[in-house]
Amino acid sequence: MKRQVRVGMVGYKFMGKAHSHAYRDLPFFFEPEAVPVLQAVAGRDRDGVEAAANQLGWASTETDWRRLIERDDIDLIDIVTPNHLHAEIAIAAAEAGKHILCEKPLALTVAEARRMARAAEQAGTVHMVCHNYRFAPAVQFAKKLIDDGRLGRIYHIRAQYLQDWIMDPNFPLVWRQRKEVTGSGALGDIGAHILDLARFLVGEFTAVTGMMETFIKERPQAEDDVRGEVDVDDATAFLARFENGAMGVFEATRFAGGNRNGNRFEINGEKGSIRWDLENMNNLEVYLEEDEKGMQGFRTIHCTEEVHPYAGAYWPPGHIIGYEHTFINLFSELMKGIAKGYSPSPNFADGLRNQMVLEGVERSAQSGGWIEISED
Ligand SMILES: NC(=O)c1ccc[n+]([C@@H]2O[C@H](COP(=O)([O-])OP(=O)(O)OC[C@H]3O[C@@H](n4cnc5c(N)ncnc54)[C@H](O)[C@@H]3O)[C@@H](O)[C@H]2O)c1
Repeated sequence: MKRQVRVGMVGYKFMGKAHSHAYRDLPFFFEPEAVPVLQAVAGRDRDGVEAAANQLGWASTETDWRRLIERDDIDLIDIVTPNHLHAEIAIAAAEAGKHILCEKPLALTVAEARRMARAAEQAGTVHMVCHNYRFAPAVQFAKKLIDDGRLGRIYHIRAQYLQDWIMDPNFPLVWRQRKEVTGSGALGDIGAHILDLARFLVGEFTAVTGMMETFIKERPQAEDDVRGEVDVDDATAFLARFENGAMGVFEATRFAGGNRNGNRFEINGEKGSIRWDLENMNNLEVYLEEDEKGMQGFRTIHCTEEVHPYAGAYWPPGHIIGYEHTFINLFSELMKGIAKGYSPSPNFADGLRNQMVLEGVERSAQSGGWIEISED
């Protein structure tokens, strides 16, 4: 019988659903050496957590996440709560010797992220951060083209994550707009994803300078009549320098009308360029300087063939996959890591590095200057 990994998940809404689905579908498409078991889900509200367990397929429930961590029949703690709980839950899970999957951003601050990375390292258990967009086959193929030198030296990355869901000034204050719960606004929520893609595809950041704006400074609150203060950014833009000499231009906003979830990047190198857009996620646009004159231009590669990473696990060429499959692909790496005893990237060290860039951008927006990103 294959090794079983008994999962205890904390939280059960948006990401809870995406993760539950991925655990269930993983053995259907892949042949993982370790198989996830949906052992228990935790939430605060008894009725809510039981309804979620029924719908999402979990065997048991808890109303306190601490109880989940105490249980001997749980191997992996999966954290899909708002950001302010990530550190406390992850550190407790590490101390109890559990493997950990944590949603992004890893923490509220660099100090917290550092403590989490240290606790996980000391525990010697497997840890990952859920930067799922890395795991789209087209993004993995982009990585392969870059690693194979097909683009040559990288000069530019320009990446945008554009949403529009809070443009209505009467949209209520939710946890994603409260600093003590979320850390930062558009920056940490969606900017963290393009920052991870940049680290994956281009390399380490060395310096950043940014600007942040809150267009709607007060919003109605669900609980009472008093309008609440929005103390995080609605939009952030920043410039970056990379270790390999590349330049980056980044934009994360929730005020880009018409863009429901526009996550896209373009990378330009000395021998070619690539472009990707989540809303067309199976395609990678590739321009290669080596093409015959007159025939040069961006071509569209439909990354659904056996040669494209992860695509072979699904359907015949041309039969597309979607958002949810990025999680299944990530979870296939997590299970491999647990079976073999290593923490696949992106792990807590990546989460910490990501947090350092997020904090650098915030500090630069306050000081108006450039901030070096360094280990100390
Ligand atoms: N990887 C991605 O693309 C992606 C997308 C969305 C959100 N996220 C991240 O996932 C995390 C959760 O976001 P979401 O959109 O699922 O939020 P959500 O608001 O939809 O769900 C949060 C869940 O946490 C639960 N929760 C809150 N406090 C709790 C507590 N004390 N104990 C137990 N459960 C508690 C809530 O009841 C709810 O089930 C965040 O860190 C967010 O940044 C990642």
